[in-house]
Amino acid sequence: MADPIIAPKPQLARRAHIASLEQYQQIYAASVRDPRGFWRECAARVDWFHPFERTFRQDFANAEVSWFLGGKLNAAHNCVDRWLHDRAEQTALIWVGDEPGTYRHISFHELHENVGRLANVLRAHGVQKGDRVCIYLPMIPEAAYAMLACARIGAVHSVVFAGFSAESLRDRIVDADCRVVLTANEGLRGGKVIPLKATVDAALEGTAVTTVLVKRRTDTAVPMRAGRDLDYDEQVQRQRAYCPIEWMDSEDPLFVLYTSGSTGRPKGQLHTTGGYLVYASYTHEIVFDWHRGDVHFCAADVGWITGHSYIVYGPLCNGATTVMFESTPVYPDARRYWQVVDDVQASIFYTAPTALRALVRFGDEPVRTSSRASLRVLGSVGEPINPEIWRWYHDVVGEGRCAVVDTWWQTETGGILISPLPGATPCKPGSATFPLPGVRPVLVDEHGRELTGNDVTGNLCLVGSWPGQARTILNDHERFRQTYFTTYPGRYFTGDGCRRDADGYYWITGRVDDVLNVSGHRLGTAEVESALVAHDYCAEAAVVGCPHDVKGTGIYCFVIRGKAAEGHDDAEVEDVLRQQVRDAIGAIATPDRIQLVSGLPKTRSGKIMRRILRKVAESRYDELGDISTLAEPAVVEEIVAGHKTWAK
Ligand code: WTA
Repeated sequence: MADPIIAPKPQLARRAHIASLEQYQQIYAASVRDPRGFWRECAARVDWFHPFERTFRQDFANAEVSWFLGGKLNAAHNCVDRWLHDRAEQTALIWVGDEPGTYRHISFHELHENVGRLANVLRAHGVQKGDRVCIYLPMIPEAAYAMLACARIGAVHSVVFAGFSAESLRDRIVDADCRVVLTANEGLRGGKVIPLKATVDAALEGTAVTTVLVKRRTDTAVPMRAGRDLDYDEQVQRQRAYCPIEWMDSEDPLFVLYTSGSTGRPKGQLHTTGGYLVYASYTHEIVFDWHRGDVHFCAADVGWITGHSYIVYGPLCNGATTVMFESTPVYPDARRYWQVVDDVQASIFYTAPTALRALVRFGDEPVRTSSRASLRVLGSVGEPINPEIWRWYHDVVGEGRCAVVDTWWQTETGGILISPLPGATPCKPGSATFPLPGVRPVLVDEHGRELTGNDVTGNLCLVGSWPGQARTILNDHERFRQTYFTTYPGRYFTGDGCRRDADGYYWITGRVDDVLNVSGHRLGTAEVESALVAHDYCAEAAVVGCPHDVKGTGIYCFVIRGKAAEGHDDAEVEDVLRQQVRDAIGAIATPDRIQLVSGLPKTRSGKIMRRILRKVAESRYDELGDISTLAEPAVVEEIVAGHKTWAK
């Protein structure tokens, strides 16, 4: 059966940057014919202090790419100063606080002052060009000030999502060798208090951090360590608002952001200044069809790449009004997003399918209490969007008049690579449709042979670099090369599976490696396993994904009890281990199920057969395949029986 096609809305096409499928196809073809010309022109969208001499250089064999070589610019200048001449009083940032009705409008002029003062504070505490600064802040304007203040003086920010545990935070601080940390006394989310400063205190034991700036988000006093901890407000008040700009080389680092892979610890993805900024700005404009005056509401957290590119850098680099949302989609109730949309008159709304799945459960009523007349474009990101959810987004939230853009990309890609364009692309619900101009996806089979033509399924790779591509993993270029460039030589391998249907539409089928996409957050099964085995209640663990109505993928752990757990009942062991994972990684990694087992399915050489465990966790007991080669085939029966009691 042919998939239904939803044509672009004529009223959107009329004003769109790319206004028809034919126009998209022409631009796309030209971009592939002459990538240098295409990107050279694209780069003109940012302000260069010194023009670049060469558009790009690409050597995938050595995992080396560089963009806009010889150019000099500054990201904070582009996001702030550049707009002072004609929109100083325009709102740059609308902060939406956790408590309903709490709004703060920050103009470009105010943004400039706030960023400048903070940049001076950082300088006063010895932060220099190239130094890494850790940002562990809730969703408050200071998070954006901090990112831009770093960019202004050439420091490299490392934002750590405020839901991560002390241990995760410490690992990231140590890996990036941060000396300065910005945090808040407490965070506030969905009415709950998050003890950020206490977490920082626990994380800093034994690190080289010399300075902690603490913003007061709540009235609670927190212990301050003399000589290390400083009050944010006191510090910024002492500084002047103007801070000179550090002009950066295109390839100077802008930020590092940690993300999970299939093995080992999270990797610090390094993004550089020129390419990243051009790409964030370009994609923000064409994918959301942003026009001057449009309010852009991306409901992500700045702790993830989506927040970096589509709350801060992309929108601000285009002189947009961007929204920063501190709360949750269901606080105080399921009307919250739509109320905010009306209050700030958002034209663009961008969230993850997991949030939509959570909202669908409350029915249409909470949506219908709002007008949403300001909306034009609805975006989705982070995981495949189920066609039913796509429909609901389109029909109920968008009332059939808004474009839905299902945007596929990754932390490593810096910005969106595959997505519909609001005025141009006929959509199939569940498909991210086509690559953006300048982007060249290919599908390959397991032998690395390119699957040409349509109606093919394989692993998604990219040939040809794009400006937003991550340049390396901090401190480990070899790991970067190994992870992305050796599986299919000559191509960047995404880790995702994908189908290109008979009409050439791309359908992302999900990760083909040991990375889980839990509520749109990336987690390595290896990370959860190491958290489990670090506790003496666990002798051995194997973690796989399981289907989950709201999260998309849940975390399913098979655990062999450790000696220390003998004599304790199952429920207690499970609780202890669940807490252990939360403490080690953070609440986002909380296991959905811990199944205690007496053994794991292993080959005779001792390798855990994850394929079997994945099938069990998906309740596909008939698809376990040949288990006769296992060392102890009987454990499978026990595992299946144990799963059935839970999955009922
Ligand atoms: C998945 C988030 C299907 C994918 C921006 C990718 C998606 C991983 C989509 C990156 C989408 C992201 N449809 N899957 N529209 N967008 N993904 O680094 O598996 O947190 O590899 O970046 O999310 O997650 P990350």
